[in-house]
Amino acid sequence: MTKRTFIITGGNSGLGFQCAKNIALQSPDNCVIIASRNAEKSERAVEIIISEIKNSDIHAITLDLSSLQSVREFVVKYAERNFPPLYGVVCNAISSGGNATKDGFDMTFGTGHLGHFLLVNLLLKNFDGGRIIFVSSDQHNPPVFIAKLHYTDALEYAYPNKKNHNTRYSFTKLCNIYCAYELSKKLKAKTARKITVNAFNPGFMADTGLAKPKNTAEKLVQKIAPLIARFLGTLSSAKISGNILAELLVNERYEGITGKYFDREKEIKSSRLSYNQENAGNLWLRSIEFTKLQANESIFSK
Ligand SMILES: NC(=O)c1ccc[n+]([C@@H]2O[C@H](COP(=O)([O-])OP(=O)(O)OC[C@H]3O[C@@H](n4cnc5c(N)ncnc54)[C@H](OP(=O)(O)O)[C@@H]3O)[C@@H](O)[C@H]2O)c1
Repeated sequence: MTKRTFIITGGNSGLGFQCAKNIALQSPDNCVIIASRNAEKSERAVEIIISEIKNSDIHAITLDLSSLQSVREFVVKYAERNFPPLYGVVCNAISSGGNATKDGFDMTFGTGHLGHFLLVNLLLKNFDGGRIIFVSSDQHNPPVFIAKLHYTDALEYAYPNKKNHNTRYSFTKLCNIYCAYELSKKLKAKTARKITVNAFNPGFMADTGLAKPKNTAEKLVQKIAPLIARFLGTLSSAKISGNILAELLVNERYEGITGKYFDREKEIKSSRLSYNQENAGNLWLRSIEFTKLQANESIFSK
């Protein structure tokens, strides 16, 4: 096997960490880059992985998805290091704390979608073949009593707004799917690059930072949620889903599959709304506008 590189955003904890570790475990030829905001935590994650397995090709490069400048700087730092050819990118991180990103966008949308949109577009030049996965959630299609979701224009959610946290989170997870489907379509139609792009739902993981309760009400929900998730068949853990996510990136079984949605290892249909191509097109164009993506930064002219 030839050496190849994988970038995992949010790879220093939770799902991303388990995914990074499992990719590194698969082969010493897999070079893994942990791209997270907290540099100290990322270095610690690198040390833990190296101490546990026989692969020392694990690195940390700081990336703050809440700053478009940081995303651009990450790509420059990555290019300077002469890593093996890029093969995999996992768009996994999200931050929901805080109101606005450094560029003034809604924090959930800005980190979960916009930062990743820019990152992936800037990285596309660096690889001819490989796999990109956008980590979404079954909450892209929430029950109405949790979040009321519709899509008219990305502008409605892009800046800090009065919509509640669940609705903003669900919208961002819907954007992850639009982005995966649209990018897959563009790569097939406009390039000869053999890059597959899919969306992934890890299921409910009570053992990650995201699931940590921040107040009494959330503590109560935290107690009941695993029971409901078990009943619905959506209960998982960072370890289980991180392993599946790594498989989606390296296992030959998934070779050539693109523009799909995986509920853990199973390819299923995403919500009806997520197949609306007009919305996906709107999101793509708005994202170019919001990130100020330049023609010379992208492999697509439009
Ligand atoms: N937990 C669940 O039940 C569940 C269910 C469905 C989907 N998901 C999805 O799974 C993915 C991973 O979440 P998780 O549950 O593993 O959460 P987590 O443990 O909180 O991990 C989030 C990761 O994102 C990084 N991060 C946060 N803000 C960042 C920023 N501005 N720039 C760069 N990195 C940043 C964090 O690193 P730092 O500490 O360095 O900031 C951390 O490594 C998310 O996309 C989430 O939507 C989770």
